[in-house]
Amino acid sequence: MLLVSEPVLGPEEKIALDAVIDGGWITMGERVRELEQSFARLHDAEDSVAVGSCTAALHLILHALGIGPGDEVLVPSLTFVATANSVLYVGARPVFVDIDSLALPLMSLEEAEAKCTARTKAVIIVHFGGYLADREAWQAFARRKRLLLIEDAAHAPGLPLAGTFGEAAAFSFYGNKNMTTAEGGAIIARNRALRERIRQARSHGMTSTTRQRLTSRRPDYDVTILGFNYRMDELRAAVGLVQLKRLNEWNAIRGRLSLHYRKLIAELCSSVIVPFANWRQSAHHLMPVVLPAAIRRQAVIDRLRRVGIQTTIHYPPVHRLTFYNDLYPNCHLPRTEAFAQRELTLPLHPQMTPDKVELVVSCLIGALATRTRAEAIA
Ligand SMILES: Cc1ncc(COP(=O)(O)O)c(C=O)c1O
Repeated sequence: MLLVSEPVLGPEEKIALDAVIDGGWITMGERVRELEQSFARLHDAEDSVAVGSCTAALHLILHALGIGPGDEVLVPSLTFVATANSVLYVGARPVFVDIDSLALPLMSLEEAEAKCTARTKAVIIVHFGGYLADREAWQAFARRKRLLLIEDAAHAPGLPLAGTFGEAAAFSFYGNKNMTTAEGGAIIARNRALRERIRQARSHGMTSTTRQRLTSRRPDYDVTILGFNYRMDELRAAVGLVQLKRLNEWNAIRGRLSLHYRKLIAELCSSVIVPFANWRQSAHHLMPVVLPAAIRRQAVIDRLRRVGIQTTIHYPPVHRLTFYNDLYPNCHLPRTEAFAQRELTLPLHPQMTPDKVELVVSCLIGALATRTRAEAIA
């Protein structure tokens, strides 16, 4: 099966894991610290904080920024549920914002502006599919509305501009992401005080880590803020350090494959919309396409699956998931809903070769043609 995404894991990761086991220190230690520093360098930041997941990263950021009950946070609905969940974790209210269009499925600035109230405290922008939102426009908006600007950069590790928009950015190292530690994530926060608050809250609000107590001969610690256990461990950090070395190369391969898809689809099945035409900044995490409105998507999914090609959907809109639909029964986001009904995510990962892209496109053309004929007969 040609999968939508696949981690690249090999002998180097195995050697790195062996070394941690042989070393005997498996929780937060030197490798976690090294991963934090290396990840920060890649994003031209002073430092970063490694955590157990991007979800934990988002929670820690909102918590450290003091967002809580009575506050509203603007979020897209075209995202993974974790973006909105993190707002509920701190007792604030996520306010769902529509996307711009089928061709530009990022949160709409105009709609974000329209949904601002006196209670709006922050906005979480999501770089959907790795396509970077308009930095200057969102910064100007946040300044004008006096909002805290947060990036959900789960899809954009390795893009130098990701993590430079506002207060902080959350990255994911989950198994299907551009680099992986199986589960894991990182936070970039350029303000040192904020970053240290996040670092402390990551580990129960304690004033020192186990490792620091070992090396400083001071066994005592205090807890000065509310914290969580959102730590990363040495095993995952060791894998992350190997992955990090190849992230730029992998993102470049993703970019080339993505371009190949675009050219072939434009030439051979122009009824399919490929969002983000000529986009400058992308980590090419996903290959989303929008099928013609008359096509029954499930039939295309089934047909591709029969020939060994997995496709997925990004995303079922969060406001339409049962839990959120019950909370927000009257929320309607027509562009997000239209996009989500017609979107199909094609395989894209660095282990693919251009001939696999050609195979996917030719099978997609076949699936669309079959449907068109069948629907014409019907
Ligand atoms: C946009 C987005 N935000 C947040 C997350 C949560 O990431 P994690 O699984 O690392 O908690 C994901 C994961 O798929 C995501 O795609």
